[in-house]
Amino acid sequence: MSLSAQSIEDAKALALAAIASADSLEALKEAKLAHVGDKSPIARANQQLGTLTPDERANFGKIIGQAKNIVTAALEARTQILESERDSRVLVEERVDVSIPARRTPKGGLHPLTILTNEICDLFLGMGYRVAEGPELEAEWLNFDALNLPEDHPARTMQDTFFVEPLDSHLVLRTHTSPVQVRTMLEQEPPIYVICPGRTYRADELDATHTPVFSQVEGLVIDKGITMADLKGTLDHFARSIFGPEVKTRLRSSFFPFTEPSAEVDFYFNGRWIEWGGCGMVNPKVLVACGIDPDVYSGFAFGMGLERTLMVRHGITDMHDIVEGDQRFSQSFGSGVK
Ligand code: DAH
Repeated sequence: MSLSAQSIEDAKALALAAIASADSLEALKEAKLAHVGDKSPIARANQQLGTLTPDERANFGKIIGQAKNIVTAALEARTQILESERDSRVLVEERVDVSIPARRTPKGGLHPLTILTNEICDLFLGMGYRVAEGPELEAEWLNFDALNLPEDHPARTMQDTFFVEPLDSHLVLRTHTSPVQVRTMLEQEPPIYVICPGRTYRADELDATHTPVFSQVEGLVIDKGITMADLKGTLDHFARSIFGPEVKTRLRSSFFPFTEPSAEVDFYFNGRWIEWGGCGMVNPKVLVACGIDPDVYSGFAFGMGLERTLMVRHGITDMHDIVEGDQRFSQSFGSGVK
């Protein structure tokens, strides 16, 4: 390109037009590269200055310098306009409405049976008991034999018990939490103070008052000089904590192979006696089976159903509500998280 005032004027005009028509900061960047950058016509004109005579150089230097100044000023002005346009667009597009209600994750809750279990464990932990647990798939010997439930005991027949194949595995789904008593006595030397909550199984149909999978809580105390008065006092305290301070308990004589004497425990609630569970003094035969000397130690045990406890306390009339897992039912008990 030969240097002339016209060619510089043309290059300037082209640059100004490109700058004026750039409608975004990206487009402006391209225009800058093309018209102000090292390879732009104006920059190239500037490079040619060296080939000129001093007079021409002064003359063209001035013309080119002015053109450059005008283009640079236009570029700056356009940059400012496009930047402020972008800023106001961002303000609109990225607007945050702090008054929109937040999307909340609903808070989960514990199942009412779990809440009750925790409550019972807390109560007994406060009295120095330990919580003991055992497997739901249990050795037949621990579920029955060690508890002095002879082979011909009706509880052992197919009607009640879920036997697990192969039958010679001698495993059952535990029919009560009492095998945890045995496990504890086999593992631990007296004194023993344990509370054993857990899931239990019996071949029942699900109806308003029965469920094949249910829950029990078992208590066991083995120490020197334990009597039935200790049992009664413990049950009274337990019942009052769960059902209210005015609640009374009574023992009705009964039979369980693993206790001697045995009793049913009832409590008086809302004007009537309600059956709660079984209890008694641990049968010396069970102590012996567990390696504890019945001449030195004695103890009591009790066991009750948790579903029943929950139903009575809260006036629940249908077992389905407890087992079906409808969140509306559970939510009415609160989250259970302390
Ligand atoms: N295991 C008994 C049942 O499921 C309940 C029971 C009775 C537990 C007497 C005990 C007890 O600890 O002493 O029917």
